[in-house]
Amino acid sequence: MKSIILVGYMCTGKTTVGKALAKSMGLRFYDLDWYIEDRFHKRIADIFAEKGEEGFRDIEYRLLREAAEFEDIVLSCGGGTPCFFDNMEYMNRTGITLFLKADPETIITHYHISHTVRPLLAGKNDEELKTFITQQLQNRSPFYEQAQYTIDVNVLDSYDKISIIVSQIQQILNLENGKMEN
Ligand code: S3P
Repeated sequence: MKSIILVGYMCTGKTTVGKALAKSMGLRFYDLDWYIEDRFHKRIADIFAEKGEEGFRDIEYRLLREAAEFEDIVLSCGGGTPCFFDNMEYMNRTGITLFLKADPETIITHYHISHTVRPLLAGKNDEELKTFITQQLQNRSPFYEQAQYTIDVNVLDSYDKISIIVSQIQQILNLENGKMEN
């Protein structure tokens, strides 16, 4: 089975949904940032600090092409992954791509409950976050929208809602499997 690839902005729940989806489907779960951190024995924030964003994007490019080739996996990408090089085109060729779509308000709420350090958002107050995220979402949306499916995750305001998103995705994947069998 092709890899199932989740894309979308930071804090839209790619990792949380990806893990739950993989578990419910008996697939292995990979998070591209974790894969990079394991390989480099470094946190993403430290890679950004040492190599700059450009260095990070080169690494991300290379390791995406390893991880997405695995079979029977759910892969969550970083928020910027689809927006550099031909990554989005590559993901569409290699896997089944799903865009988890959320508004800036939802993203900010998730950001405040997340423990992950995100170099692009760190140190900003709520007003700065809103301006930055709104602008960056506008720039990035044309890439995210190239995904084969879009899932609205604004309902994700608590952990018990994850199952709603997971069943929506499963329905899509069942249809996708039906298409492949016919
Ligand atoms: C980034 C998103 C992060 C991580 C890095 C850059 C981005 O991943 O790859 O901090 O450019 O949006 P998450 O989307 O998992 O936070």
